[in-house]
This record gives sequence, structure tokens and C-alpha cells, in this order.
Amino acid sequence: MSTIKDSNLSAVGKDEVKWAQRQMQVLEDIKTDFEKRKPLDGLNIGACMHVTKETANLMLTLQSAGANVALCASNPLSTKDSVAAYLTDSGVEVHAIHGVSNEDFFKHLNSVLDTKPDITMDDGADLVSLLHTDRSDISVMGSMEETTTGVIRLKSMEKNNKLRFPVVAVNDSDTKHLFDNRFGTGQSAMDGVVRATDLLIAGLNVVVIGFGDCGKGVAERAYGMGAKVTVVEPNSVRALEALMHGYEVKSSINAAKIADVIVSVTGNMHALDKQHFDVMKDGVALANAGHFDVEINLNALKEHSSSVDRVRDHVESYKYDDKEILVLAEGRLVNLAAATGHPASVMDMSFANQALAAEWIKDNYKNLESKVYTLPKEVDLKIAATKLGLMGGELEILTEEQINYLDSWEHGTS
Ligand SMILES: NC(=O)c1ccc[n+]([C@@H]2O[C@H](COP(=O)([O-])OP(=O)(O)OC[C@H]3O[C@@H](n4cnc5c(N)ncnc54)[C@H](O)[C@@H]3O)[C@@H](O)[C@H]2O)c1
Repeated sequence: MSTIKDSNLSAVGKDEVKWAQRQMQVLEDIKTDFEKRKPLDGLNIGACMHVTKETANLMLTLQSAGANVALCASNPLSTKDSVAAYLTDSGVEVHAIHGVSNEDFFKHLNSVLDTKPDITMDDGADLVSLLHTDRSDISVMGSMEETTTGVIRLKSMEKNNKLRFPVVAVNDSDTKHLFDNRFGTGQSAMDGVVRATDLLIAGLNVVVIGFGDCGKGVAERAYGMGAKVTVVEPNSVRALEALMHGYEVKSSINAAKIADVIVSVTGNMHALDKQHFDVMKDGVALANAGHFDVEINLNALKEHSSSVDRVRDHVESYKYDDKEILVLAEGRLVNLAAATGHPASVMDMSFANQALAAEWIKDNYKNLESKVYTLPKEVDLKIAATKLGLMGGELEILTEEQINYLDSWEHGTS
């Protein structure tokens, strides 16, 4: 039985899920195929994902393949209660309520594992973690992981010989991280900052901490809105790339001194800490779009602040020495807490990978080792080609002669 806030919200949820569905045609095509073939017939799938309208379309796709699906939230603030209600009505077991306590959040994870999943799906490796600790009695065929931070945790488990089953790093598919992390996080993180603050971004100093796929997206969108963008990045190649893009590149301390808005997307802890708070300007706004709420050291900020006040939805004002530091969305994923997460069109590709990964695990798990895998390259190319066509792009077709030329080593200066 589901644990949700209010089943009366189902009709609202249905409209939201159908709205997202319009932009998720790659996934819809997979769903139509799954409906005919039922490749996951009778399997239990347990998912821990953001409970959004886009995730709902993935859950319904897995259900159409014949799976029994149970879902809990991968973040307490990202759950849309209306979507949870609609999914429950649609036969998915949902354990998710917006804003639950930490204790209930973990109860919900355990409720999903109580369904004895054959395959699990994570956004941040929380189910996999439990399957290696408190719930190690449960055996699964394998699992899928949605985000960079989860993949890092899993690769570390693999390296230390701790992983008990194969996992597909969906994040590492090109049609996931090159689009979702970059264009999805870029747009939705800036959307979250603007919705939370109503700030005019044009002319502001926006500092982006971390210039990976997500950071590139955030920097591009902030720049496009007229911000003066500064990037903080420890990897010299990425830092140089940011510089040649036309952004300022500074150390975190020097960037903190000039920032009006800071967005962290590092996947690392304490990217912003006491030494940064000390030098920040009055009124600076801090947001995090990295997976966990560890990137801004809120304990250090609280400890040295004389007061903390909620000044509007998603904005807390910390009185720090003689200045005010604003923290958006409690330092949690700003794009999901203060806005509505990634647009459906980009999640279409991420979730097409998830759906196909579930079938891939079912077909291959007997021959897989306890390792982190990526989906075969052809899956990426197929998803990209379908999306390109749907978005009105045309793919160039090489001639036999050109293919042979690229394949041969005999040709050179003529
Ligand atoms: N908000 C979302 O919806 C969303 C979507 C996708 C990924 N994510 C999360 O965002 C984070 C970043 O993902 P990514 O795919 O860009 O990862 P990535 O590994 O491509 O990039 C992270 C970058 O941060 C840099 N970095 C690490 N520690 C740093 C520090 N202390 N200061 C400055 N830079 C630092 C790294 O060198 C790297 O270049 C991860 O936690 C990921 O799970 C969030």
C-alpha cells in the first residue's frame, strides 16, 4: 500500500504527467514497444527517484513492460504530491511525501525494498547502499544509477570489491550526461534561483563552482541571462575550457569576494565553507545544484550566524557578522526544490536509457559481474537519432566511399 500525502490530488497529477508525456516521445515509443512485448513481465522494480511528472512517465513505461513498480523519493523536497497520488491510482506503489522528516524518508526507502525488487533504480545510490548494509538479505539481478554522485559512490564500491551485483551507470550514457546534466541542470538551476529570489540576473556576478557537465550548463544559462560569470574549478583542463569560453576563472576565495549569486555543482562536500562566508558580500545568494546538501557547509554557517530567518519561500537569511547571507532551498537541489526540475524533453532521453537499461539487465545479468557498466554505444546512437528526428534535425548519411575512406589506412597525401 502506498504512503502518500493526499489521494484527492490524483486528477491534478494526471494533468501534469500527461503534460510531460507530450515532450517525452522517445520514451513513449519504448512504452508502445514494451506494451507489445512485455519484456519485464512479472518482475518487481524498486525505484528511488525524484517523484516528478517525468519520473511518473518512466514508472508507467516500466509498468507497461509488465513490471510491478514501487517508487520512493530520492530527495524529500522534490516530491510532487499530486504526481504521487496519480501514480498510486495507476497501480504504482508509491512511498513519498513532500518535505518528510529524515526518519520517514528512510522508512520509505525500506518500504520499496520490502517489495523484494528484482531490479532497482537509484538517483544517488541510496537503495544500493541499503542493499549493501541493513537490507543485504535481498538479492537483485542488478541496478541502474541516474546521477554522477551515485556513479562515483558505485565505482568506489567496485574498486573496493564491495559491490554485490551489476549496476548500469545510466548517467554515463552520452544521451544522459551531455544533455540532462548540461542543458537540464543549466536551465532548471537558474530557473530555481530566479523563482526563489526574483533577482534580475543581468549584470550580476554569478559564480559557478564546478565546471563539469552541470557547471557548464549553469554557466551558459547565467551568461545568456547577462551575468558576469566566474568559474571555480580544480581540474586545469576544465578551468582552461571555462576561461576560453570567456568566463573569469578564480580560486573559490577570490570568487566568493565578488559574488552576488553562487551556484555549486561539484558533487563534493564543503565547496563553500567558513573561509568563504567570511569574505562574502552583504546580500549574496547561495544555491546548490549538486546532488547532496553537503556542498554548502550549513553547520558552519549556522554556528557563526547570530540569527536565521525564513524571509520567503525557499530563502533563508543568515545574519553573519554585519552582513546577510541568503541560502536558497536549504542548500538542497535548487532546481528541484525551488523550481520543477529538468524539463521533460531532456528527461525523455535520460529515462529512455533507464527503461532500456532495465531490459538490458534482465537479459544479461547472468553473464555480468559485480561491476559498473555503461549501456552499449548503439543504444546511445539510437536514442540520439530518434530525438534528433523528433526535434526536426537531419542526420548526415555517409556514402560507402566515405565510410571506406575513414576505415582505411592507405590514404594520405596524394
Ligand atoms: N541538479 C540536478 O538536477 C543534477 C543533475 C545531474 C547531476 N547532478 C549532480 O551535480 C553534481 C555535478 O555533476 P556533474 O555531472 O557536473 O559532475 P562532474 O564530475 O562532471 O563535474 C563536477 C566538477 O566539479 C569539480 N569540483 C570538485 N570539487 C570541487 C570543489 N571543491 N570546488 C570546485 N570544483 C570542484 C570537479 O573537478 C568537476 O569538474 C553531482 O553531484 C551530480 O550528481 C545534479
